[in-house]
Amino acid sequence: MKIEEIKTISVLGAGIMGHGIAQSFLMGGFFVKLFDIQEAIVETAKAHIRRNLELFHQSNFIKRPEIESAMSRLVTTVELRQAVEESDFIVEAAPENLELKQTLFQQVESFCRTDAIITSNTSSLTLKEIGVRVKNKERLVITHWFNPPHIVPTVEVVKGDTTSDETVEIAYQLLTKIKKAPVKINWELPGFLINRIQIAMAREVFDLYEKGVASAADIDRAVKGSFGFRLASIGPLLTADLGGLDLWLKVCENLLPHIQSSIEPSKTLKRLVSQGHTGIKSGKGFYDYNLDFSQKELDEAVQRRDREFLDRLKTLYWYEDTKE
Ligand SMILES: NC(=O)c1ccc[n+]([C@@H]2O[C@H](COP(=O)([O-])OP(=O)(O)OC[C@H]3O[C@@H](n4cnc5c(N)ncnc54)[C@H](O)[C@@H]3O)[C@@H](O)[C@H]2O)c1
Repeated sequence: MKIEEIKTISVLGAGIMGHGIAQSFLMGGFFVKLFDIQEAIVETAKAHIRRNLELFHQSNFIKRPEIESAMSRLVTTVELRQAVEESDFIVEAAPENLELKQTLFQQVESFCRTDAIITSNTSSLTLKEIGVRVKNKERLVITHWFNPPHIVPTVEVVKGDTTSDETVEIAYQLLTKIKKAPVKINWELPGFLINRIQIAMAREVFDLYEKGVASAADIDRAVKGSFGFRLASIGPLLTADLGGLDLWLKVCENLLPHIQSSIEPSKTLKRLVSQGHTGIKSGKGFYDYNLDFSQKELDEAVQRRDREFLDRLKTLYWYEDTKE
């Protein structure tokens, strides 16, 4: 299949990730079929997509008529066959459950065109596992998006053992076409690329908090205002080159023996979870939260976060498109 031939995208699962992924393809001009198991879920997803398109308009990413144009290209359905039978590119964003994904992939292959590409947004499963009942495994590829997917630019395109080079190339080009910043990951390793880096940092951060080196607020403020500030513009390897690799070598030699290297999750993290302190959803995590907020207030808080992210997206990625 050629990239120009791709017109219709299916998104399977309209939850946190699915509705944002659907929005990204709608904004890229594609027809999108959004599938979930209940009518009420796809209706909520549709409302969220409209609300988020409105946010993109308010932040000058799209003109008002583009909201209606995008919505007119969206079809929601609870019939899997209808969702995938005419599709060119299928994105699975169903729950992280192996048996569920295996069955879904098998059903999808039986309904969809023989040349359609089938992708999974899995965070932790392999294509070998998910696609075990799929006959043509060359067209399977992982496209791993980050939350909120309609805003965060990077998508990891992970080549499985059996994925063809052509499948990787088409997924990569398609994501580029909808203004994402895809990255090719050459083989399936646990956590792919980004989650490995993120967990390496989290291990040290949880440990520093546990040792009482600084308060939760100060740790967050320090990271945001230092390498966090830099990282939005330049990556860690360029940072090292700019600082001087001789210096980085010295610092590695001096500090690595002191950095946390345990393969056990942090004791504090385990304790908080065992006490039911699972973060904002329970009212307590590393911070205390006021649990008296309504769903409306929570939605407003998410919208505030998204507005801030959109400002950054504009400055760092979409600056040409949003110039007046
Ligand atoms: N939430 C994140 O931050 C994040 C980030 C990257 C990747 N992922 C991955 O994306 C996938 C979806 O995660 P989510 O957070 O959107 O989950 P979610 O629970 O918000 O959404 C999953 C949706 O799938 C629907 N569903 C249930 N059974 C289905 C089926 N048989 N076919 C199709 N849809 C079905 C559910 O009704 C639900 O609406 C998972 O594989 C997850 O690991 C999540």
